[in-house]
Amino acid sequence: MTTNSPMEQQKTNETLNQPDRELDISLRPAKFSDFVGQPRVRERLELAVDAARGRNEALDHVLLSGPPGLGKTTLSYILATAMGSRLKATSGPVIDKAGDLAGLLTSLEHGDVLFIDEIHRMQKAVEEYLYAAMEDFVLDIMIDQGPNARSVRLDLKRFTLVGATTRSGLISAPLRSRFGIVNRLDYYCMIDLKAIVHRSARILNVDIDDAGAEEIAGRSRGTPRIANNLLRRVRDYAQIRADNRITRDVADQALHMLDIDTYGLDEMDKRILETIVHKFSGGPVGVNSLAVSVGEESDTIEEVYEPYLIQEGYLKRTPKGRVATERCYERLGIPLPGQIQRELV
Ligand SMILES: Nc1ncnc2c1ncn2[C@@H]1O[C@H](COP(=O)(O)OP(=O)(O)O)[C@@H](O)[C@H]1O
Ligand SMILES: [Mg+2]
Repeated sequence: MTTNSPMEQQKTNETLNQPDRELDISLRPAKFSDFVGQPRVRERLELAVDAARGRNEALDHVLLSGPPGLGKTTLSYILATAMGSRLKATSGPVIDKAGDLAGLLTSLEHGDVLFIDEIHRMQKAVEEYLYAAMEDFVLDIMIDQGPNARSVRLDLKRFTLVGATTRSGLISAPLRSRFGIVNRLDYYCMIDLKAIVHRSARILNVDIDDAGAEEIAGRSRGTPRIANNLLRRVRDYAQIRADNRITRDVADQALHMLDIDTYGLDEMDKRILETIVHKFSGGPVGVNSLAVSVGEESDTIEEVYEPYLIQEGYLKRTPKGRVATERCYERLGIPLPGQIQRELV
């Protein structure tokens, strides 16, 4: 078996998390009925759309949160389509002046969807303008400076703001409270991931059996984007070496060749687990110390990495900090501290 250097592994992971634009668009479900999984989120959103349409009103503002690749952008487009509205997309860091926001907001027609991705990264000054826009559909802008400075009120059409964030903890309370509909997306279960792999394989025109889909689904970290990206890699392999047909063996060989973790963990996941076990003797360790050790921000650890590690049972959150579980030791192939002691006695 060949082991890549950490740099190369990092690269493999980055490319896997990096969506291929064209592919991403063609595989992206366009309507609710094509959107697999997340039944509760889907039900709530569909109901809100039906109700708003029934009253001929704009949809209430929607906040979607959750780790990357779970379908936030996809749902935003589905919402606009279902409302029969146009969607304008931008992202938090792009709007760097209040004027940019004013330009966007005044261009919206009744019922249009303004999608702001990474809304937690919007500047505070810009965010404050958004409050009145969301609540009262007005924009108070200051013109001129010094003694001539005055505020002018612009009326806006009733639009729908759809905000997406990977870090819901960073959304300020005033902003959050202006969203009528707040939903968090969770990692997908195996059944749903398999269904996504089958659907994507149909679109990509590659033959895959159930075991092949399961092999890919099991390594995709509960994340549709990763499942699609792995499928694309396996498809290349199948095309050259396996008559364009993906079975469990073909998938396994392809993913093994690419050094894709059998458990679906990525580099940062592994670094977090190893750090807790090796540097902090299995924990408990506070999230801030952990963050410094692995070189990542603590809220990213808390909102992007930990939820998966906790769901899969590698990590526990205790009042004293994070603790590695038995499963974590097993996964890293290290004997439990208790076992070592017992063996020594
Ligand atoms: N529920 C789903 N069903 C099918 N495919 C999905 C689903 N959610 C996400 N995907 C796929 O995963 C990709 C990434 O989703 P995206 O909406 O961009 O995630 P996010 O915005 O949360 O990072 C999409 O292009 C789509 O192909
Ligand atoms: Mg997105």
